[in-house]
Amino acid sequence: MSESHRAEVALGLLRKYDRPGPRYTSYPTAVEFTEDYGELDYRARLAQADALSDEPLSLYVHLPFCEERCSFCGCHVVITKKRDVSARFLDYLHREIDLLAEHLPHRRRLSQYHWGGGTPTYQTPSEMEALHRKVTGHFRIDSDAEVAIEVDPRVTSLEQLDLLEGLGFNRISMGVQDFTPEVQEAINRNQTESETRKLYEHCRKLGFESVNIDLIYGLPLQSPGTFSDNMDVILDLRPDRLAVYSYAYVPWIKANQRRIDTSQLPSPEGKLELFCIAREKLLDAGYVQIGMDHFALPGDELARAAGDRRLHRNFMGYTVKMGSDMVGVGLSAIGDVRGSFAQNCKKLSTYYRDLDAGRFPVERGYVLDDDDKIRRAVITRLMCNFHLDRREIEDGFGIDFDAYFATELEELRAPAGPVEHGFVSIHGDGLDVTENGRLFIRNVCMVFDRYLRAKRDDKPIFSRTV
Ligand SMILES: C[S@@+](CC[C@H](N)C(=O)[O-])C[C@H]1O[C@@H](n2cnc3c(N)ncnc32)[C@H](O)[C@@H]1O
Ligand code: SF4
Repeated sequence: MSESHRAEVALGLLRKYDRPGPRYTSYPTAVEFTEDYGELDYRARLAQADALSDEPLSLYVHLPFCEERCSFCGCHVVITKKRDVSARFLDYLHREIDLLAEHLPHRRRLSQYHWGGGTPTYQTPSEMEALHRKVTGHFRIDSDAEVAIEVDPRVTSLEQLDLLEGLGFNRISMGVQDFTPEVQEAINRNQTESETRKLYEHCRKLGFESVNIDLIYGLPLQSPGTFSDNMDVILDLRPDRLAVYSYAYVPWIKANQRRIDTSQLPSPEGKLELFCIAREKLLDAGYVQIGMDHFALPGDELARAAGDRRLHRNFMGYTVKMGSDMVGVGLSAIGDVRGSFAQNCKKLSTYYRDLDAGRFPVERGYVLDDDDKIRRAVITRLMCNFHLDRREIEDGFGIDFDAYFATELEELRAPAGPVEHGFVSIHGDGLDVTENGRLFIRNVCMVFDRYLRAKRDDKPIFSRTV
């Protein structure tokens, strides 16, 4: 790595800014969801959403099964090798989709449709096909829709990829995390480079519009040398998109992460260096940085949208095809419908009980107030575009930006604060996050987070920002 990148952020600053903070896949974040919101609230919101019959929807399907637990994993998963367990779940998932369609009799267009997990390709080809047919039996997928799936190369067959292509999936996201055998050993995920290559090359042959690879930096035993080698393999593959996630280490929430040997984790400065290595190599190779942790080739629609500041972000990640409402089905899935979040239960037994009673398995949620909507717009735009247009917020919400955010602007401009550190510039048109500031975009957004302000001294909830 060049000296210039290493020198970008002084160690003192790194220590100051490296603290627990949200990744802002939503605002307010999921920790604000409560059980005051239940399935009757969700039904009422669906009725409102149904009235917007011409508007497209986003649909997220959560398939939670994996055969074995990777020790780094932060996702909602069910670990089992028993296929009858997942077959039973799928029966109920079909019922949930029927129930959803019943409540959306007029709202049937999808512009964004994702299968995530867990591992969606844990399911057999015939189960996958039946699920897709269940969805398309009710919903129409726009011809230019984003139809995406997360695949784990260790369990995905070429036959499954053929099927997905035939069903109309156009975006594949492959979990890799790290190619280094020692790192894989330390995270309980053994995945050979050759099996990943084989699957990747088959995706290319089938001509999927976009192939993404997920990597994580900050894992045990990663070093500048190993991570640089990793990036060389990646650049040889040259996926359209890359997610380079900061390792979210939250052992107080995810018990499986207690198996990680903390003495093997890189220091905050070591972790930042790993990201800088990836960033430098990817930028040199012609990739464009998208938001906080994504990169895309210039021809990819995400890169084009980032250039025009048309990017959106929701629980499924960065997108240009976001519907004005998002519905989620499956265990722990989150929906975002008419100004409210609704999250499904995380236990199979509760999921079955609710659906048996003809109820949506919604367990908790949140109704956004006016202030939440303003702050959500601010935070989302910063996360997506590193830019905030003062006029757009003022016109959109009928507020005086400087008066409304006087405390926040003062905090940004405070001595030894983000403006002085060169992370943010505030000017007549709004706010811009600088190249260095991008590394700390979560910290910049945290200034605008009303809930975090109220919780500042509380115990840790979120992973660290670096
Ligand atoms: C649902 S998961 C993975 C899909 C599939 N099961 C697999 O492992 O390939 C989607 C992505 O989330 C990311 N992820 C999971 N746990 C994480 C954590 N604790 N910190 C950061 N990223 C994480 C990984 O990069 C993973 O590929
Ligand atoms: S990383 Fe993927 S395969 Fe591993 S436990 Fe998490 S969801 Fe399952």
